[in-house]
Amino acid sequence: MPALRPGPQSGREERRARRADLARFFGTWIRKPLSLGAVAPSSATYCATMAAAASTHLDGPILELGPGLGVVTRALLAKGVDPARITSIEYDADFARTLRERFPRVNVIRGDGFDLDQTLGDGGATRFAAILMAIPVVSKPQAERQALFRRYLDRLVPGGNITQLSYLVTPPVKPIEGVFEVSSTPIVWDNIPPARVWIYRKTAALAH
Ligand SMILES: C[S@@+](CC[C@H](N)C(=O)[O-])C[C@H]1O[C@@H](n2cnc3c(N)ncnc32)[C@H](O)[C@@H]1O
Repeated sequence: MPALRPGPQSGREERRARRADLARFFGTWIRKPLSLGAVAPSSATYCATMAAAASTHLDGPILELGPGLGVVTRALLAKGVDPARITSIEYDADFARTLRERFPRVNVIRGDGFDLDQTLGDGGATRFAAILMAIPVVSKPQAERQALFRRYLDRLVPGGNITQLSYLVTPPVKPIEGVFEVSSTPIVWDNIPPARVWIYRKTAALAH
């Protein structure tokens, strides 16, 4: 199958590779709609918006959760992020295998992005400059989502943020006063369906 490689491709090859990915993604969605959470990979504009909003300018590794077939990973590389900084956790074994082929310098882990301590096996020690989150959370109760994001925020370096993919019109994880704040980018209309990037940061007094 033609791969969406990070290197240069002709326009025609690129379009063919995108169509192949779209078909593969859709086929996986038919079998596992809940874990995939989307019928199509995010659009190039959406991925660029997410990469631009992520606090990758800070020192430290970058964590991508739910990379799928690597569209956001590619946007991070296009932003100039060193692939050696990126750890991508993907639950789907086929997707993880493809990601390893496409991004040999990215640390791709096939595992559960909800349980970072288990999946990273680092005893909670690693602090990330940014977390880019695309795993669907809407099936979880709000209190569980907030607890999950508090754990993610504790994994960030000071000033770091979580950027989240979501089609919801209100924040998928509601802010907790004095703990973390939420903002968003404008809607990206060429995504299927249109979506925003939600941005989460620790409240200033706690951001150290
Ligand atoms: C909505 S898709 C996003 C894919 C890609 N980032 C994009 O924007 O097109 C969600 C991805 O999260 C993965 N996923 C679902 N549950 C997961 C989990 N617990 N841990 C890691 N990845 C998971 C799915 O396999 C899928 O690739």
